[in-house]
This record gives sequence, structure tokens and C-alpha cells, in this order.
Amino acid sequence: MQVDTAIIGAGAAGMMCAAHTGGRVLVVDHAKAPGEKIRISGGGRCNFTNMYCEPQAFLSQNPHFAKSALARYTQWDFIELVDRHGIAWHEKTLGQLFCDTSAKEIIAMLRGLMQQAGVDLQLQSSARNFEKVDGQFTFDLQTPDKTIKVTARTLVIATGGKSIPKMGATGIAYDIARQFGLKVTDTRAGLVPFTFAEGRFAPLAGVATPARITAGATGFDEALLFTHRGLSGPAVLQASSYWQEGAPITVNLAPEGTLLDALRDQRQLAGRRNFTTILAQHLPSRLVDYLGQEFDLSGNLADWSDARLIAFVEALQNWQLHPGGTEGYRTAEVTLGGVDTDALSSKTMAAKDVPGLYFIGEAVDVTGWLGGYNFQWAWSSGMAAARAI
Ligand code: FDA
Repeated sequence: MQVDTAIIGAGAAGMMCAAHTGGRVLVVDHAKAPGEKIRISGGGRCNFTNMYCEPQAFLSQNPHFAKSALARYTQWDFIELVDRHGIAWHEKTLGQLFCDTSAKEIIAMLRGLMQQAGVDLQLQSSARNFEKVDGQFTFDLQTPDKTIKVTARTLVIATGGKSIPKMGATGIAYDIARQFGLKVTDTRAGLVPFTFAEGRFAPLAGVATPARITAGATGFDEALLFTHRGLSGPAVLQASSYWQEGAPITVNLAPEGTLLDALRDQRQLAGRRNFTTILAQHLPSRLVDYLGQEFDLSGNLADWSDARLIAFVEALQNWQLHPGGTEGYRTAEVTLGGVDTDALSSKTMAAKDVPGLYFIGEAVDVTGWLGGYNFQWAWSSGMAAARAI
């Protein structure tokens, strides 16, 4: 089979690219359906972009790499596409845009666009034995009923990262990159819960509270969720992408900075009440019980001197914890690291030294924050390649 462009991976980036690439396009995916991660994303409503999408929200060895593609196909361009297809959406929080009804609408839109463009989508199929011969790429396409030799002028790798192997994530993009001489930066799980030694936070499982979680020099103010295995919630997932194995994280349980003044005011008005009773007006009561084991919270509020109050609030704002690890690729939303951006054109996603070879989406060493940034990278990098092909 001879095609102009073969795209491996029918996820967000692969479908976006296929829908906007001219000529004869073949898309290969080993899954039963395209866009499986889109389907399960955002609790089934797909957080498809972020209104405040900016390059600072992306991690990469080269923090400048993502700028060009993000600027040339922006969140507003994708919102316009979604609007044109009559998909209703809303902002949940912090610029995060979700479908009103279902993530399946985004998949249907991309499938529809691929159909209009005449794309040949081969599902439950694999591609093996990639080679470049006489300026063309060849590989063996194994469909459910036959094996065919495919020849393509252009090869686009859109197979994502290693996150959630149960959903078919393979890391094959890195093998293909290495095969063609491209470097791959170290990969690790990102946007992933922290784990702690057996039972550390088990009594708090299910408790959520606003917090600022800092890893390295980067902190995030959002919800913290205690789990049976450790810590989760948006603030924790965000910080996990900046965490280095063995390093501590800082948990600030009074991120608004108003707790000290509030406790001082209450000392005037209700000083004869237990300190823990008053504290439970500011923090979940199960968390207060737990903190009672970590700190001396005894006595009435009136008995607490200013110095003791200040020391306690400072300790709450600077709680150092040492995660044992993360839940890893099993539950990570993304893979940090990937195909080294030094080897790629930031304008087109083409491999600089292998004409006709492109890498897009999560396979590349560009990882966004939680909140729609990763899909925007998939749309933007997919479009960058499509426009260049
Ligand atoms: P993606 O993983 O989407 O697609 C890769 C495709 O390649 C898949 O269809 C796979 O089957 C196929 N493939 C892999 N190996 C293959 C092989 N060897 N042969 C053939 N095919 C192969 N992001 C966001 O912005 N907003 C959100 O709401 C969420 N929510 C979310 C929830 C969960 C649970 C997860 C795991 C992730 C998210 N994300 C997210 C992240 C987002 O899903 C992710 O960044 C994009 O899907 C990446 O798009 P890609 O197209 O690069 O890879």
C-alpha cells in the first residue's frame, strides 16, 4: 500500500494531524477505538483546553520549544473549531474548558473531520519494522485480517507516552526515535499522586482541603486530597511534575494567609473554647484530629500565646513531607520527558536530520500542567505537523 502520510497513533494529536493533512493519509492504532484517552478525560467531559494557555505552563528541557506551535494554533483556534461543530462547553475553574455533555463529542468531531478528509483509519492494527528506503518510509501493517507492506513519503509518530499501560500506552515512540538516531530524554510519570509508607494518611482518606503544594521551586494552590495510599488532588498532581525522587515536598495547609488573624480574633470572642474546636472551623475536623498527633494542640484558645499561635500557623504553612514515591505510570495522566526537542523543528515537529519524519503530542518532551494544557499541546503540535506536510 502506498500512501502520502502514515500516522501511527489515533489519539488527540494523531487525529488532529490526520484531519488537517492533505493527500492520502493512513492512520494506524492498535486500540479498538480512536481517542480513548479523550473519552475518559475530565471525568468523561474532556478538559479540552485552557483559556490561559501559555508556554510557562509546559515543562521541557527546552522551555522555549513549545512556543511556536502554541502560538500558531492557539486555544482560541481550538475553541473556534469546537464552536463550529456546535459542541457546548463551560469553564469549570482556572480557565479549564470542559464539554457540557460528553468527551465523545470531541472524538466524534475529530472522526468526522478525518472522514471528510478521506483518511483511512486502521484500528486494532499494529505497525512494525520501520525502515527508510530511497527517501520513503516502509513498515509492516498488521490489521485484524492481513499483513501489508506500507510505503509512505511522510511518517508521523503520535503514539503518546507511557502513562496508563492498561489503555495501550507503549512508549513505542521512543524506540522509533532512537532507531532513527534521535535522542530521548529521561521519562517519568507526571500529574500523578504521591505514595507514602503504609497507612500514613489512611485515617484521612477522602478528606479534601485547599492547600499550596510546593516541589522544588514551584508551588500550586488548589485542592489537596488525602488517600489510602498517600496524597492526591489537583495541587498534588501539579506539584508531582516538578518533584525529584527523594526530595521533600512542602504542604501549606493555610494558603490564604488569613488563619493567624482569624485565630487571634476568635481568641478575643470565644477564647474559652478548645483550640481544636476552633481550628475545626478552618480545617476539616478529621484533619484537625490527625494534626493533634503531630502537634501539641491542647488547651483553650485563650491559653495560646501569640508566639505559640504564630509557631503553629507557620508549621501548618511549612509542613515538610517526604513522599516514598508516586503511583507511577499506572495512574499518571502524562509522561514527562520524551523525544528530545533538540532533534525537532519547533515550527513543524519534523526531525531535523530525518526528512519526512515527525513526532507530535505527548511523545515529545513537552508536558503541560493539569487543566487542558496537554490536549492543547496535542492540538497545536498536530496542526504544526499537518501544516508542514
Ligand atoms: P494519546 O495517548 O492520546 O494517543 C496515543 C495513541 O497511540 C493511542 O490511541 C494509542 O492506542 C496509540 N498507540 C500507542 N502505542 C501504539 C502502538 N505501539 N501501535 C499502535 N498504536 C499505538 N489532558 C488534558 O489536557 N485534559 C484532560 O482533561 C486530561 N485528562 C486526562 C485523564 C486521564 C485519565 C489521562 C490518562 C490523561 C489525561 N490527559 C488530559 C492527558 C491527555 O490525555 C494526553 O496528554 C493526550 O491524550 C496526549 O495525546 P497524544 O495524541 O499524544 O497521545
